Amino acid sequence: MLIKTARDIKNSEITPENIFRDRRRILAAGLAAGLLPGIGLDTEAALPDGISLNKTKPWPNSIDEEYSDFDDVTGYNNYYEFGTGKTDPARYAHTLVTDPWSIKVEGEAENTGTFTLEDILRPHSFEQRVYRLRCVEAWSAVVPWVGFPLADLLKRFSPTSKAKYVQFFTLYEPNQMPGLRYPVLEWPYREGLTIAEAMNPLSLMAIGLYGQALPNQNGAPLRLVVPWKYGFKSIKSIVRIRFQESQPQTSWNMAISQEYGFYSNVNPRVDHPRWSQASERRIGGSLFSARTPTLMFNGYEAEVAHLYRDLDLAKNY
Ligand code: MTE
Repeated sequence: MLIKTARDIKNSEITPENIFRDRRRILAAGLAAGLLPGIGLDTEAALPDGISLNKTKPWPNSIDEEYSDFDDVTGYNNYYEFGTGKTDPARYAHTLVTDPWSIKVEGEAENTGTFTLEDILRPHSFEQRVYRLRCVEAWSAVVPWVGFPLADLLKRFSPTSKAKYVQFFTLYEPNQMPGLRYPVLEWPYREGLTIAEAMNPLSLMAIGLYGQALPNQNGAPLRLVVPWKYGFKSIKSIVRIRFQESQPQTSWNMAISQEYGFYSNVNPRVDHPRWSQASERRIGGSLFSARTPTLMFNGYEAEVAHLYRDLDLAKNY
């Protein structure tokens, strides 16, 4: 977010047109059927054996907007562990090793320890939720995410009454993540939520998009999607979850606290010190394409405004 880079190449421009169109057709057919069959793309590898997206159900409250182009969502990314350019993650994240994968759970919970990805995923059924991801840089994307409520996972660890916050960490593997050589942020990338935010039914633990497993550049094998907060709260490739009593550190707040607060709720009324947050542009269009007004809490005011009733959102940005 420190560095603004113009996109240089659109992936759909280098995908043969017939394959590109056919993929869109298959995806549309799967959605119309109400289920998302494994659509034959070779990304199931990122999920452990026995975990399949075949029975993914559509979530009834998805936003009713046209999806962003698959190639834009997987080709224009922020994943600084692979570089700060928007096309760097798609170019370099193939070095990320997602199998085996485990997650360490620690802090204020009764059931802590290290869990394999399979342990984490097996009890859950998956749903497709179409959310907008709104980046603090004022671009947004409409993505059919596949995942399950974060609350369902966190409850399995039985957080204690002292667990007021939960913190998440991304993998730190310099051999796999070339961007870690640069001190752009304090690594590992970390994020946090209040326990009430984490338990809100909108907070999604995502393992896929467009009916298939997450590509590495989007945070394989599992990442958060917190739809009422700026995109940087949606931490990728999670390896550690910590319950704690005090407000946790977050990477962007540690880097530039006057620009990035702990809450980072989408708020068109509070501008970023260097740019307006009042409107946004969908990825994929040109820099001159129409901007749409940004909605308070990214359109989820009814579901989440109560979490901030006693907070001054201009101060707690
Ligand atoms: N997670 C990690 N580990 N590293 C990052 O650099 N970038 C964040 C977030 N999660 C980031 C991250 C930002 S700024 C955004 S906007 C979203 O990922 C982008 O998600 P996407 O690439 O799937 O669109």
